[in-house]
Amino acid sequence: MRKALVLAVMALAVASCCGNKAVKSTDPRVDELLKKMTLEEKVGQTVLFTSDWTVTGPSMRSGYLEDIKAGRCGALLNAYTADFTREVQRVAVEETRLGIPILFGYDVIHGFRTIFPINLGMSCSWDIPAIEESARIAAEEAAAAGLQWTYSPMCDISVEPRWGRISEGSGEDPYLGSLISAAMTRGYQGDDLSKDNTILACVKHFAAYGAPQAGRDYNTVDMSERWFREFYLPPYKAAIDAGALSVMASFNELDGVPAHASNHLMNEILKNEWGFQGFVVSDYTGINEMIMHGYAADESHAAELSMNAGLDMDMMSAAYMNHLTDLVKSGKVSEKTLDNAVRRILNIKAALGLLDDPYKYCDTEREKERTLTPENKAFARQIAAESMVLLKNNGVLPLKKGEKVAVLGPMATTKDDFLGSWRGAGQVESVPASIEDAIKEVTPVAASASKVVLVLGEPWSWTGEAASRTSINLPKEQTELLKSLKKQGKTVALVLLNGRPLDLSEESEWADAILEAWYPGTMGGYAVADVLFGDYNPSGKLSVTFPRNLGQVPIYHYAKNTGRPYIHPDAKYESRYLDCPNEPLYAFGHGLSYTTFEYSNPVIPGTDRESPMLKGDGTLTVKVTVTNTGKVAGTETVQLYIRDLVGSVTRPVKQLKGFERITLQPGECREVSFTIDKEMISFYRQDMTWGPEAGDFKVFIGGASDNVKEASFGYEI
Ligand code: GLC
Repeated sequence: MRKALVLAVMALAVASCCGNKAVKSTDPRVDELLKKMTLEEKVGQTVLFTSDWTVTGPSMRSGYLEDIKAGRCGALLNAYTADFTREVQRVAVEETRLGIPILFGYDVIHGFRTIFPINLGMSCSWDIPAIEESARIAAEEAAAAGLQWTYSPMCDISVEPRWGRISEGSGEDPYLGSLISAAMTRGYQGDDLSKDNTILACVKHFAAYGAPQAGRDYNTVDMSERWFREFYLPPYKAAIDAGALSVMASFNELDGVPAHASNHLMNEILKNEWGFQGFVVSDYTGINEMIMHGYAADESHAAELSMNAGLDMDMMSAAYMNHLTDLVKSGKVSEKTLDNAVRRILNIKAALGLLDDPYKYCDTEREKERTLTPENKAFARQIAAESMVLLKNNGVLPLKKGEKVAVLGPMATTKDDFLGSWRGAGQVESVPASIEDAIKEVTPVAASASKVVLVLGEPWSWTGEAASRTSINLPKEQTELLKSLKKQGKTVALVLLNGRPLDLSEESEWADAILEAWYPGTMGGYAVADVLFGDYNPSGKLSVTFPRNLGQVPIYHYAKNTGRPYIHPDAKYESRYLDCPNEPLYAFGHGLSYTTFEYSNPVIPGTDRESPMLKGDGTLTVKVTVTNTGKVAGTETVQLYIRDLVGSVTRPVKQLKGFERITLQPGECREVSFTIDKEMISFYRQDMTWGPEAGDFKVFIGGASDNVKEASFGYEI
């Protein structure tokens, strides 16, 4: 008897940890539909196919309209325009037994028709409200074109410049990345998903996709649970906490288990620990790829593993379409698990208003009115300028309007590269000006001029998905062009169009100024000119470290001190290289302005101790005065970092824990204060509990992670 009881309890435990955590229907029509649906119709709601309107993955599939008509497919990606989605929706609503509307998804990740800078670029603006606005505009344009779902925000932290998809994320920092993921979620979803200008966000790629070994896309990811939870997980959680209602599984394995079948990720963390109420979608053919991972024996086994691990919808594998019915009939997947997946999906269709009016997103007039508006383009120009980072300037910038300059380089006339990868419905024809065009509108351009704007970079196809590189250098001939211009005695302002941190060691020696412009979007040409001529004083700060060379990678600002930190220049037995300094070329948080800013020493007022004490749930305020000591107004991002000097596990030498963007007139000074509390110093302690530990701390404040002033404080529980 006892053994049977134990086995029953164990079976219950397994069932509760596997299979979708039950969610309640949010709309009575969901339960009514579930009661009417056949097993095959339930499976149909878990199937997502691509249309042939555009291609974003390794395989295509014809016959999706027949699948929809037969109730075998409940969602479609890569299909848009009000007209096309209306026709597809008509088939689903009027030619199927239950008329359940289709969900239309697309990769709208940095704009839909009006394209903004790539996400790595926008993250360098540190302008959270502007990033949220970019998502709101993207949602408005996408929803007007028949879409209800975007595969964004991409929340993958990355310290891997070889990885092409570093361009799609928000850089290396979990604090900044979390603020951005939450802002984009709010921008897409607004306060009501049923509105005709909001769309469903999709948190991707869950999880830790940004840490592929050797920087090679889709490659193995392996890290401790501690490092994963402290440095990779936060941006996904921030998006979920901001209300994101779909999640996309990632192609990589983590700790030996492909994310597409990770019960730990999807059921234990996402659905149980975080209480996620939305649905999880696979990435493109991700379920089938578990066969290649060596984790599933065949397609049916892959479908069984994924559904039982909490993956609710199958993008493009057809594994669910081909096998789920039999898996439920055989008991390998319980119908309760399938019902939970379908309920999660139907809840979202109800929340989007599709059960009320399936055609609400298919209005051609609204589509015309809401896309590529003058306001959207003006905003795109502004956020592009804010995203640019002035890495070096020996005074050649800003240029003077009317002065003679040459505009040279292989990227001087490009428009296509401005749109970067994942350009949504952005069209090159909508790009009004290249950098050369835009400069010509401001000043005479002459090839013989002694002052040169040299535009170099990577073609956009060298970044994005399946675009990893073993070199992060510019093409040799580009560097040689820079050097030859300098040998001719020219003054050179280098403008870069690229989607990853580059090794600029040589270029930084030769160029008189370097402006990192990323892929700046539809209005990028004008935005570059705005910065070059000082109409916008550059304010961008790097959200990712630029190494001196690939040999330093991975290199990031929240590194550990090690037992032999490199302190003594001539020491041998310290953590150092024989051929290169430890410091990066350009540190996280670095970015120059046309003015200068001076920082006072940080003070923690109201305390009589050398090192003020933070107690229990109390707070401390640290203040600093920033002064614009230059001749033009400028915007500075004041950054706050913290270090825990001794912990039950080793702690980083600095971690970003706050920042504030301030704009100061020449001569103006401003007091900036940050509140320190125990959450700011909490971490996964040696027993993996989250919380603070008593001890001594340093606080660093400045305009870059390597340009700070410090103060000390203590913490007692
Ligand atoms: C791709 C990408 C993912 C994208 C999806 C749909 O393979 O990994 O980011 O959202 O397919 O296009």
